[in-house]
Amino acid sequence: MAAAEQSPVVGIDFGTTNSSVALRLPDGSVRLAEFPSAGSTTRSSRSVLYLQRKVESRKPAAVWSGPEAIDRYLDTDSHEDEVQGRLIQSLKSYLSSRTFTGTEIFGRNYRVEDLVAKMLLDLRTRASASLGVEITRAVAGRPVHFVGADVDADNDFAEARLRASFLQAGFTDVTFAMEPVAAAYAYAADVSEPQNVLIGDFGGGTTDFSLLKLGPGERTVLGTTGVGLAGDAFDAKIVRYLISPALGADTMGRELNKLLPALPAWIYANLERWHTLSFLRTRNVTELLRTALKRAVEPEKIALLQAVVEHDLGYRLHQAVQRVKIDLSSAMETEFVLNAETVHLRAPVTRAEFEGWIAPELQRIRVSLDDLLEKTKTGADAVDRVFLTGGTSLVPAVRQVFTERFGADRVIGGEAFTSVAHGLALMAAE
Ligand SMILES: Nc1ncnc2c1ncn2[C@@H]1O[C@H](COP(=O)(O)OP(=O)(O)OP(=O)(O)O)[C@@H](O)[C@H]1O
Ligand SMILES: [Mg+2]
Repeated sequence: MAAAEQSPVVGIDFGTTNSSVALRLPDGSVRLAEFPSAGSTTRSSRSVLYLQRKVESRKPAAVWSGPEAIDRYLDTDSHEDEVQGRLIQSLKSYLSSRTFTGTEIFGRNYRVEDLVAKMLLDLRTRASASLGVEITRAVAGRPVHFVGADVDADNDFAEARLRASFLQAGFTDVTFAMEPVAAAYAYAADVSEPQNVLIGDFGGGTTDFSLLKLGPGERTVLGTTGVGLAGDAFDAKIVRYLISPALGADTMGRELNKLLPALPAWIYANLERWHTLSFLRTRNVTELLRTALKRAVEPEKIALLQAVVEHDLGYRLHQAVQRVKIDLSSAMETEFVLNAETVHLRAPVTRAEFEGWIAPELQRIRVSLDDLLEKTKTGADAVDRVFLTGGTSLVPAVRQVFTERFGADRVIGGEAFTSVAHGLALMAAE
């Protein structure tokens, strides 16, 4: 059999927030798959799922992924009593969790692997149509440190689950590569002199570092480190300090003759994280909200939370939080605004406040960077270039960690949303 008849190996970056697929062409250039999105196309497909079914129906829910999921979600009138929907985000963050094996949605059990496989199947089919090749083989990215992984075994467990999802999605052959090493390959394409390059990839779920010796024809990985937090963890802080108080996080409730928190703290912890938010729609939570509404000193705040949960407003909340965060990447202050159903919230916020909220996360990022330099016995002076990528690298406070340490002239950035897929495609061609 001629090798040419085999399907080519593509690079797949299944990200917490955005996913991309890339193929290296025979002339050495890299082509990114384009996905249809709201009348146009995008090279980063949102990593979301939307499930919907008719209440009376016994059939399994229909499931959409990516831009199509968002279109369906937005087109659905949440007042239509006969239709139930659920939008799920940041699923990748569940992969390391042994306790989260799956979830019941509309009375049916879905394993994490099944949900991830649906996203990968659609990515495979859509990328195949866009690139004009059959896709069954891939080099796929994985973070150095998955969200929620405490020990090495957790990372192995997450990777094994991700592999199972790829196989379920019709891939016959999948090899994993560290995401920050892939980003280094993308950067290396432009390197003409030998140099030590530090790569920082800041995504939705994870922060990943790699240090490589790069040069014409040289790709030596000196080390990698990572930490399971990034943009989603920043969003969580915006929810905690700006939004949860307006939804009753500090509200007390009367119970017998005592005043106790109206709702348990775990409800607000779930509200803060995009991957747990959509799983607040359970009978248990509905019941807790109903009781809290009766006992609360400020029932109007609990009613807002109830509306967010019942009307599945997680995505709209997410969008409003993203807007604040993205605004603060270029402006010193902005306003949080959410108008959906009965929920009308506005709150001013400054970049200084945001930076104060994420200070502990920035500190953990610094520790991971120090680990890498220590582990590879590399002094800051020996790093010739620092390449920052991923959506969260656009946060000024994140860049500042590096400009402070290495000086602004050594720090560069690029291809925030596609460098990992680009590099994976180059690795796939080797
Ligand atoms: N201009 C911006 N300023 C700040 N944050 C941004 C900006 N644009 C995007 N983001 C954030 O970047 C994150 C998504 O980045 P990216 O697409 O690189 O992540 P991912 O690859 O899906 O995640 P991971 O690599 O962790 O699996 C989100 O948290 C998003 O809010
Ligand atoms: Mg990424």
